[in-house]
Amino acid sequence: MKILVSGKLPGVAVVRLKERHQVDVDAFERPMDRRDLMEKVCDRDGLLCMITDKIDSELMEKAPNLRMIANFGVGYDNIDIDEATARGIWVSNTPGVLTDATADLTFALILASARRLVEGDKIVRAGQWTHWGPSVFLGSEVTGKTLGIIGMGTIGKAVAKRARGFDMRVVYYNRNRVPESDESALNAAYCDMDTLLSTSDFVTLHVALTPQTRQLIGQRELQLMKRSSFLINASRGPVVDETALVDALRSRKIAGAGLDVYENEPATAEGLTELDNVVLAPHIGSATIETRTRMAQLAVTNLLAGLEGEIPPNCLNCG
Ligand code: DGY
Repeated sequence: MKILVSGKLPGVAVVRLKERHQVDVDAFERPMDRRDLMEKVCDRDGLLCMITDKIDSELMEKAPNLRMIANFGVGYDNIDIDEATARGIWVSNTPGVLTDATADLTFALILASARRLVEGDKIVRAGQWTHWGPSVFLGSEVTGKTLGIIGMGTIGKAVAKRARGFDMRVVYYNRNRVPESDESALNAAYCDMDTLLSTSDFVTLHVALTPQTRQLIGQRELQLMKRSSFLINASRGPVVDETALVDALRSRKIAGAGLDVYENEPATAEGLTELDNVVLAPHIGSATIETRTRMAQLAVTNLLAGLEGEIPPNCLNCG
């Protein structure tokens, strides 16, 4: 069968595809140009795509043979699942394997923003560090503070687990309350979103991007947060109104933010990069060699299963 892989995969996973099928790999690190993607997908049975590829009805229309789309990523807001289902195309993602890497990065953002690590690094490099002093470069303590987790799925839970090591009080908001056994294992208390926003020292977002979570955090929500608090986002950029966030950071309505994702990646909202009280990462939540290698293997496993008529282990629409 004919397969298109729309990005360079880490590790050797692609070999498993090449052993059995005719594979065309876009060998560049950059997202595949939309026109190229549309052209190359037209005679393909399978597609292994990146989260930066928009897989919509226009693209599926161009690929009448397509029967399996394996997304390289857990988030699948880049794919029109309803359209794929209507066309009988199976879609899969890569859950589980990137949970720890993303939770680790979340904590890196919490620590870096609270302890002003990037600001400090800049000053040392620029030769502008003049002295140690009792009031120099004061940040906020992380240990013992309240962490508010919005979205208590697999990644939210992994973040809660790490918070225990920092003796943090954990509150969470989720569409559905998690089982009591999970709450007590994680030492996490459920509350409504407004209470979470107004009582947390760190608010961290771990929801999927859906019509319900788009711009979940806007001016009103930022206003509810404490002036001393921080917003952390390692989920999807459009969950936050980035312009409202720039205003809140500039006017010190909140103390700071740590972001891994943006509304219009790789662009950032006007004024964001000029602010010192925000740490900016380039969407690297899952970017460790170990995790990306596992993601590649899982995406390939899903693709092979789907093309060979078996239900892929991480099928999103085989129901
Ligand atoms: C995902 O898998 O959705 C991540 O955002 C990729 O880093």
